Amino acid sequence: MKRILFVGGGIETVPGVKKAKAMGLEVWVSDRNPNAPCFKQADQALIADTYDPNATLSAVRARIEQIGPLNGCLCLATDVPHTVAAVNEAFNLVGVRPRTAAWAMHKRQMKERFQTFDLPIPAFTSIGNAEDLANWIQQHGEVVLKPVDSRGSRGVLLLDARSDLDWAVEYSRSFSPSGELIGEAYLEGPQLSTESLVIHGECHTIGFSDRNYSLLPNTRPHIVEDGGELPSILPEAMLRQTDRLLQLAAHALGLDNGVLKGDIVIHKGQPTLIEVATRLSGGYFCTHEIPYSTGVDFVGLAIQLVLGETLDPKAWLEQRQVPVVQRYLFPPPGRVEIVDDLEPEEHPNVFYREIRVKPGDVIAPIHNHPARAGLVMATGETRQAALANAEAAVNAIHILTALEDSV
Ligand SMILES: Nc1ncnc2c1ncn2[C@@H]1O[C@H](COP(=O)(O)OP(=O)(O)OP(=O)(O)O)[C@@H](O)[C@H]1O
Ligand SMILES: [Mg+2]
Repeated sequence: MKRILFVGGGIETVPGVKKAKAMGLEVWVSDRNPNAPCFKQADQALIADTYDPNATLSAVRARIEQIGPLNGCLCLATDVPHTVAAVNEAFNLVGVRPRTAAWAMHKRQMKERFQTFDLPIPAFTSIGNAEDLANWIQQHGEVVLKPVDSRGSRGVLLLDARSDLDWAVEYSRSFSPSGELIGEAYLEGPQLSTESLVIHGECHTIGFSDRNYSLLPNTRPHIVEDGGELPSILPEAMLRQTDRLLQLAAHALGLDNGVLKGDIVIHKGQPTLIEVATRLSGGYFCTHEIPYSTGVDFVGLAIQLVLGETLDPKAWLEQRQVPVVQRYLFPPPGRVEIVDDLEPEEHPNVFYREIRVKPGDVIAPIHNHPARAGLVMATGETRQAALANAEAAVNAIHILTALEDSV
């Protein structure tokens, strides 16, 4: 029986673990938290900080000595490719390598790589203080300030000449382990989430989702996505062009085999790279949205890839296009008093619902992705019908909050 390790055992990784089990694999999961949700399904639980490659390596080594060799390693919905890469390197497994992971986890270094390869990216610069930021805003009007080494949109701010720049620098920096910030020109245009398999250096983009930022006027200066829609409404030629750009991004980062999650903006009609990640996506994109919409078992293919198996392109070339809409729950800030689920039963058009809060929890204003209170995913005959079903599912979940001073 082949053995696979998931680095990180959070709630969004559970479907990946279940998939690997269904494929007949022995599943190992590593996490610092002894109560990590995936440990219930895992065959082997390794207690190790997922952000610490050395701690993870020691735990993996010890388990290999006890049990036998490991055949593959990946991470899903957790941004720890450096730890996966350390395992891959130590045990000669197929997948992301340390140099690639290091670039992918540092937003400035990643952009510098893309610049070296002349790839389309927003103008960017290092920001040390509010004065640097003021100069950058003067040059570009609307800009995005972000920590180079955070994730989940934490500390990502959309700013202009009216913004409080001292606050912005301090706030964004509070999310950065290194304290390093970059400013980018804010690029207008439709935003895409993508997910690809890179096989022997060739990129195959299977998932394209139109990201929904309709809440931006309310969440500003924070950039918080409210789900998205598949299939993309962009023309097929634009999606192909995006796929070719991701191929170049994979090449620039030296990714020969592995997965690539893209954040793309179609700016002035051109696909432009905001960033890529060398891990499986969070937000149930790879585990639910892509398979439901396209029929492609993306996670199963990624597992096969890191196990060193040969993939059959038919598995992703023959795609269906079922409308899928994802929306998040954004209850008003305050202490949760009542969670009233008006439609707890299965609904044929709502294939996933998750409520992440319970009475007594405190909901802060939504400033980043992990803080969202839950989500729904719906389908329908058309995109409009799927959207209506998703909105109805959101409206059926009543989360009543009471404002309190500490919020
Ligand atoms: N220069 C930019 N122009 C337009 N939109 C941007 C820009 N930079 C960031 N964004 C938007 O903000 C989101 C978050 O930024 P980024 O991806 O850099 O941070 P993150 O912490 O990795 O967040 P996420 O988990 O959403 O990817 C992007 O996915 C994109 O939608
Ligand atoms: Mg991102």
